[in-house]
Amino acid sequence: MSRRRGGENPFRPGAGAQPPLLAGRDHELSLGRGLLNVLESGGRPPRGLLCFGPRGNGKTVLLARLAREARRRGMRAENLAADCFADRGELIARLRENAGLVRAELTGIQAAGSGVSTTPEPRTRDIGGLLRAWIGAAGSPLVILLDEAQSVEPAAGRAFFAAAQQATMDALPFALIAAGTPDAPRRIRKSGPFMERALRPVRVGRLDREATLIALEEPARRAGRPFTATAARRLAAESQDYPFFIQILGSAAWDATPPDAGAIRSEFARGGVSAARPEIEYFYSERFEEARARGVHRALTPIARLLADRGGRADDRVLEALLEKENGPGALPRVFSALTDLGVLWQTAPGIWEMGIPSFAEHILSRGGSAAAAHRADAG
Ligand SMILES: Nc1ncnc2c1ncn2[C@@H]1O[C@H](COP(=O)(O)OP(=O)(O)O)[C@@H](O)[C@H]1O
Ligand SMILES: [Mg+2]
Repeated sequence: MSRRRGGENPFRPGAGAQPPLLAGRDHELSLGRGLLNVLESGGRPPRGLLCFGPRGNGKTVLLARLAREARRRGMRAENLAADCFADRGELIARLRENAGLVRAELTGIQAAGSGVSTTPEPRTRDIGGLLRAWIGAAGSPLVILLDEAQSVEPAAGRAFFAAAQQATMDALPFALIAAGTPDAPRRIRKSGPFMERALRPVRVGRLDREATLIALEEPARRAGRPFTATAARRLAAESQDYPFFIQILGSAAWDATPPDAGAIRSEFARGGVSAARPEIEYFYSERFEEARARGVHRALTPIARLLADRGGRADDRVLEALLEKENGPGALPRVFSALTDLGVLWQTAPGIWEMGIPSFAEHILSRGGSAAAAHRADAG
């Protein structure tokens, strides 16, 4: 047992880092599994999935999990990086590679018997043909994973999605599972009306408290250094059920616990929270800079104040009234869509808004506070 107590830190803070336990995603996983079930039984799923939500909620790891499951069931699961959609030429090059056409051309060897022989002319620039070739390149169904879908450029996106629509109509064995930031549905819509119908939107927000506790407690227990109930509750509250913070805080609390302590007790959890502070503050300031780059950072302080006064949430009417007052009615659409794109504002139910990470409000107010204090000191 003593060896296990000194075990490795199981927590995995970091973009795309598979958590030791993917907690609280039963609904999302069941949608994905439903789609895989259809493919596996020889059917054709009528719609793919589009997972969207603020950064750090676990969309990339969800995609990776579904990809693993697809492979376990003998299907192919392959990524199509969103940067392939920068322009049509790039997309064509990538599709040719995925369809296995590149190697055949370079070596001059016909990939006979691999299924590639049924594909169109090797030099084709026909995106529909290339997608068909990719799907047909092996006998098993193909699951295409498209992460960071918000950065798909409309022109290349339109061509690809039209091809995907055609492939669906032709009942080819494939499915598309996409993920992106909250603006992904809007951006994809620009690629044509097809996507509205072809991808089922799935919101990926924060976990519930029960799932957060499981995400912290289970991996620590398995790695031989369990949390006390109080320590777990403290960290869960501190994380605000935000998956990225769960990993940062879990990891920091683990590291703050002496290996021979046996359990992660409250005092170590507290130590972890302090140790994690700089990383969390850095993360907030990155979000602030994103808002500044979109020219909407000045709207953050009044919103943070409003939300602080209202227990963290506000409805459409109140929020719009505030933004109109601060920015003028003409600026409302721009400011609102920038804030929702960034996930600073996140709709948790129709017409009900919170901050994507609620504690970001505290960061904003403390920034505002120090700026205001400096201003007063200047004036005085
Ligand atoms: N369901 C979950 N339970 C616990 N931790 C999670 C969960 N989903 C994601 N994480 C953690 O959150 C962080 C961000 O995950 P990631 O997939 O990169 O988010 P996104 O793609 O939404 O920005 C990673 O450290 C990951 O391990
Ligand atoms: Mg991601």
